[in-house]
Amino acid sequence: MIHRFDILVIGSGIAGLSYALKMSQYGSVAVITKKDKAESNTNYAQGGVAAVMSIVDSFDLHVRDTLATGQGISHRDAVEIMVREGPVRLRELISVGARFTQKDGSLDLGREGGHSANRIVHADDLTGREIERALLDAVAERGNVRIFENHVAVELITQHHVSRFREIPRDELQCWGAYVFNTREQRVDAFLARAVMLCTGGAGQVYLHTTNPLIATGDGVAMAYRAGARIANMEFIQFHPTTLFDSGSPSFLISEAVRGFGGILKLQNGQEFMDHYDARKSLAPRDIVAYAIDAELKKRGEEYVLLDLRHLPADEVRGHFPHIYSTCLNRYKIDITAEPIPVVPAAHYSCGGVMVDVDGRTSVKGLFAAGEVSMTGVHGANRLASNSLLEALVFSERAVPVSAEFCRLQESPLPPVQEWDDSGTLNAEEWILVSHNRREIQQVMWDYVGIVRSTLRLQRAARRVELVRNEVEDFYKRTKVTDALIELRNIALCADLIIRSAMDRKESRGLHRTTDYRQQDDSRFLKDTILS
Ligand code: FAD
Ligand code: SIN
Repeated sequence: MIHRFDILVIGSGIAGLSYALKMSQYGSVAVITKKDKAESNTNYAQGGVAAVMSIVDSFDLHVRDTLATGQGISHRDAVEIMVREGPVRLRELISVGARFTQKDGSLDLGREGGHSANRIVHADDLTGREIERALLDAVAERGNVRIFENHVAVELITQHHVSRFREIPRDELQCWGAYVFNTREQRVDAFLARAVMLCTGGAGQVYLHTTNPLIATGDGVAMAYRAGARIANMEFIQFHPTTLFDSGSPSFLISEAVRGFGGILKLQNGQEFMDHYDARKSLAPRDIVAYAIDAELKKRGEEYVLLDLRHLPADEVRGHFPHIYSTCLNRYKIDITAEPIPVVPAAHYSCGGVMVDVDGRTSVKGLFAAGEVSMTGVHGANRLASNSLLEALVFSERAVPVSAEFCRLQESPLPPVQEWDDSGTLNAEEWILVSHNRREIQQVMWDYVGIVRSTLRLQRAARRVELVRNEVEDFYKRTKVTDALIELRNIALCADLIIRSAMDRKESRGLHRTTDYRQQDDSRFLKDTILS
């Protein structure tokens, strides 16, 4: 079946919904989303949105903090834009109905690692859920936005899917839509549009331990790469320092805001240790804190460190972190006001992604990207806490006028795209391979491409991932698609992109640390790692 819309948005997190809301004034919008419409990384965001909202803060300070955390390779122009446009976008979000926590009649601004001022706007400790609710409610009021749940994008449609095109120079590639697997009907449809906005979020599921929900399988990066788009900085995977030890999959996050509120990291023997690593101690940026925890665990052969809140007033802890408090108590039987919380790092955020300019354009015409799937240049080698929701808000908005104009200028009808053809494929009996292979890649990435890397470990990971990738590609060609197979194929490709990028960067910078090149090497690596 072929569906036609003016604009196709892939993903219903903060980036996709903010964009769809605004684009609805320019034409018909289809939002396709893998599972339930609220299921996204956005929905689990705890800490909040960083923005300059107080007179004791300044744009210059927020820019400075972001650039310092990015360790030399953030793009200053993108950072300036994000910081300066952030407060306006946040007020718009409030005007469409998002309710953030107030104190004495104004926004209650929290603190997180690497920020030199209180600037985290939050809705208790469930900020993302509130943003998602508000945006979904607002979108529901727009007549010309249609959300397709349980629809998984398989491939972006470019000249490769139109028979009359043969050899295409890379700079002429154009995207006209996507093939999408309807998981209820078990059928692949073509969704055609004049502009396509990729908002598929992160790739945390490439790793065994992650804060990301099951949807975060790097589909957007993988699809864009296969379509010929440029991908950058995939080696910079952020590990969140504090997730609850042994909390299952995904790992339960203990927000950085808890340390911002005064929580202190300690060893199991009760000693503080962060002062050996950074003067900001428990509130140092994430790369430093995650590295410090990892180093202490390896040195001591222990499984977790502790996050201690017992010195803080219990009623205030309960008041500020109601979700974390009640989840720890009810699901994990830990009273965080009375006992220290056992914590470990887990994969959390992909700083790299599909390269875009400051207006969301990718290197493929008609294909735009925003949110975690994109690489705007803001985060560089490490992301400052709570800058992700802000980045998604600012850059999805900037793509609106640009993509609307792009649609307006597309006068000719879309080319004749072929329907999905799965004739000759079978329902193989080796489905068990899919779950085994997914687990194998996650384990390899966790063991060999984690917080501290080495050339030998990366080579080992590359060999193993290549083996699995070949097997998966072969299986993909022979069988009918399923959502599990689509995800596995994308996880395998993203793992490969992460490893290749990590091998290219022969230095240690931000989130990429390797024992073979311990120093930062500005003479050779003060730049993005670009794959295409
Ligand atoms: P997402 O919100 O992840 O949305 C992606 C969407 O794409 C989903 O709807 C998904 O179903 C859909 N999708 C994916 N693949 C496909 C496909 N193939 N076909 C169709 N649909 C698809 N950042 C902050 O700034 N502050 C915080 O406090 C914060 N806390 C966090 C806490 C947790 C536990 C996690 C996991 C992340 C947190 N982050 C935080 C990061 C932040 O939440 C994300 O980076 C941000 O929400 C990404 O938004 P997005 O719109 O780009 O993607
Ligand atoms: C958190 O609440 O610690 C997550 C914040 C973020 O990822 O920016």
